[in-house]
Amino acid sequence: MSKFQLKWGILATGGIAESFGRDLSVNPETRERNDIEHVVVAAASSTSADRAQAYLKEVSAPDSAKAYGSYKELVSDLNVDIIYVATPHSHHYQNVMLALEAGKNVLCEKALTVNAAQTEALIKKAREEDLFFMEAVWTRYFPISIYARETASSGTLGTVERTFADLAFSMPPETSFDPKNRMVNPDLAGGALLDLGIYALTWVFQSLYTVQKNPKPPTVVSAVRKWESGVDQQTSMLLTFPRDKEGDAHGIATTGMRCATDPDSNGHAPAVRIQGDKGELMVFHPAFRPTRTKLVLKDGTVEEKNWPQPGPGKGSGFRNGFGGNFHPEGEGMGMFWEADECAHALKEGRKEGKFESLNESLVIMKVMDEVRRQNGMKLPDKIETTDYPVDL
Ligand SMILES: NC(=O)c1ccc[n+]([C@@H]2O[C@H](COP(=O)([O-])OP(=O)(O)OC[C@H]3O[C@@H](n4cnc5c(N)ncnc54)[C@H](OP(=O)(O)O)[C@@H]3O)[C@@H](O)[C@H]2O)c1
Repeated sequence: MSKFQLKWGILATGGIAESFGRDLSVNPETRERNDIEHVVVAAASSTSADRAQAYLKEVSAPDSAKAYGSYKELVSDLNVDIIYVATPHSHHYQNVMLALEAGKNVLCEKALTVNAAQTEALIKKAREEDLFFMEAVWTRYFPISIYARETASSGTLGTVERTFADLAFSMPPETSFDPKNRMVNPDLAGGALLDLGIYALTWVFQSLYTVQKNPKPPTVVSAVRKWESGVDQQTSMLLTFPRDKEGDAHGIATTGMRCATDPDSNGHAPAVRIQGDKGELMVFHPAFRPTRTKLVLKDGTVEEKNWPQPGPGKGSGFRNGFGGNFHPEGEGMGMFWEADECAHALKEGRKEGKFESLNESLVIMKVMDEVRRQNGMKLPDKIETTDYPVDL
């Protein structure tokens, strides 16, 4: 049987683009995906073709892969099937629109855009052009997330009444004064909410919203503490999910940059607690790449599971990670699961991801809009605009 080959064009060459590119080089058969393959056929850097060339080398792309010094050249490459957008979220709207206008399918990093109006405009454009478009919330596509959603919807926990979810790190207070740091710079859409809070919201949504037959958007109340630059340093959200039969469910999603979910970052502390009247499922830190769960039921059942990421294995020399922290040799980062979903969708002719519809991405973006509105957090106009094209 011939395999479906997906030809990737990588837009930007930063930290996450490197992790994603390295994961694309892992044979899908190592995770029992025998019908697809991925190949990086081109990459572009906003700074120079040399930088793009260096990136292609770093991710072991084939020698034939093209290196471009502008995003425009990349989206015009006829050999590219899908563009992976990995710029800061401030730039997603402009970059995704560029790719869609050029007739390319798109996988775009989280947060999909900085506001719901931009997400809505991109969804409209993708539908008009009949193109595939998906938010790269990689965690949704992990086997551990599939298990968690099944546990939440199967009745194992009884009726799920509430979910606590947190993603927070402890960064030094002087972080605030570095304008080059995209986490605190308003020009790069900095702040905890859009970068980290989206993972807390992901777990709240996938346990309380995605699993419902006809989910209704939640309401939210929130509290925020800001950095001096005006973007959020610590944000807490209380969401109410309306349900017809069982009564409302509550989601408590928190994020921050001063006080960590898991102080030693070794996965000792639960990041997520999905609770029903018969028991709870804990998912251990980090919420974006968890590898351990613990099910505790009222009847005395305690079930711990490990969810290691597959990969080429020990002795392969393969290593992947993010921000200088590498996982053990042979272990994938886990970004290939979302890439596989893109391949399967395009193979089957689907225009959206299976585990997070575009509508759900939009509902989550509306929640984040409302949190920003409640707390007076506005980004520069050129970042919030739906005008296109705008030079950033
Ligand atoms: N899925 C995950 O776990 C995960 C983890 C981290 C980040 N992310 C998301 O991925 C996106 C990128 O994050 P990152 O950590 O990779 O950021 P990064 O290391 O700062 O890289 C961003 C890249 O975007 C390009 N870029 C274009 N215009 C830019 C500008 N004005 N300022 C800075 N960079 C610019 C640059 O590449 P070129 O100049 O070479 O084009 C740069 O290397 C964000 O939306 C973030 O939320 C996701």
